[in-house]
Amino acid sequence: MNAQSPTPPPHLGMLQLLNGAHVAGAVSCLAQLGIPDLVEDGPKSTEHLATQTGTNRWAIYRLMRATASVGVLAEGPEGTFSETPMSAVLRSNANPSLRALAIMGGRDWHGRGWAHLEHCVRSGKQALDHIYGAHIFEYLRQHPEEAQVFDNAMTAISMIDSPAVADAYNFDGIHSIVDVAGGHGLLLATIMARNPHLKGTLYEVPHVLEGCRTGPLTPVMDRCTLASGDMFTSVPAGADAYIMKHIIHDWPDEECIRLLTACRKGVNPGGKLLVVDCVIQPGNDFSPGKFLDLQMLIFPGGCERTDKQFRDLFAASGWRLNRIIATAAADSIVEGVPA
Ligand SMILES: C[S@@+](CC[C@H](N)C(=O)[O-])C[C@H]1O[C@@H](n2cnc3c(N)ncnc32)[C@H](O)[C@@H]1O
Repeated sequence: MNAQSPTPPPHLGMLQLLNGAHVAGAVSCLAQLGIPDLVEDGPKSTEHLATQTGTNRWAIYRLMRATASVGVLAEGPEGTFSETPMSAVLRSNANPSLRALAIMGGRDWHGRGWAHLEHCVRSGKQALDHIYGAHIFEYLRQHPEEAQVFDNAMTAISMIDSPAVADAYNFDGIHSIVDVAGGHGLLLATIMARNPHLKGTLYEVPHVLEGCRTGPLTPVMDRCTLASGDMFTSVPAGADAYIMKHIIHDWPDEECIRLLTACRKGVNPGGKLLVVDCVIQPGNDFSPGKFLDLQMLIFPGGCERTDKQFRDLFAASGWRLNRIIATAAADSIVEGVPA
């Protein structure tokens, strides 16, 4: 520390942290209104953007001025706004596009869930059960519009982590793979596109599976089976590998053991279990997984796990944790082999 660069006082750091929720809210609103799409082909005036989005001119100017101050849009002369790299990832046609994830962050159920964090911390129970009397996946089943928002948000994250998983793992020795609770199928589609020898099965609840028929799996559908069911009752048997991304972190140990045991029963001799999730390192290092972990507390009731927790979970389900493979995304691939 010297006279030129004093350490900022903690209250300024704290104000910045508290402002995080406001930034996320503003970015979510910007994405919902589709403004990043509207500035793709050049700067636009506030009047033009207000007309296109059916919004109040002065209010939308204030929204864009705020997001531009954190690099999401750039304000030019006389109230014009143009694209920046950070607003470009919120365009519908970007790859990856985080628009759907930003939109989910602005949904009422999502905001109410976070507003009930204290309830979750006090009780160890989930927010939507408390607010709506339904577990999140039941709530989504009952609200098709919100289910669409959720499924699109999952696909948005998958645009980042599916290529990372497909790059990090060698699927040469695997001929058949089941993606358990695979959402709309982007992970399976990405793996199958890069591995033409591979036959795949996407396993999901019926209402989500409907969205797979016209989704990312379309180009590989000749090698792909769509199967619906409840993964806690059974999984399709006879595969060389079972992969599940962001599934184990959704559930408490008891449900995970039931699911992993079903996969162990179904797997072909010498087969693999591939769990794709964050692997948490204890300590003070920043990791997005530690906040994702709070989302798991608020919404489905699971948690992010350490390598030891994965090892114990695998051992309780007839698997042995063989190795943990880092990917270019925040997730790792936790590989199990029959114990
Ligand atoms: C967090 S999302 C992850 C989706 C996908 N694996 C991905 O990474 O994008 C969890 C998924 O689990 C599915 N799911 C929840 N309960 C299920 C059950 N009992 N059987 C099968 N799938 C289930 C949901 O429909 C949802 O698509």
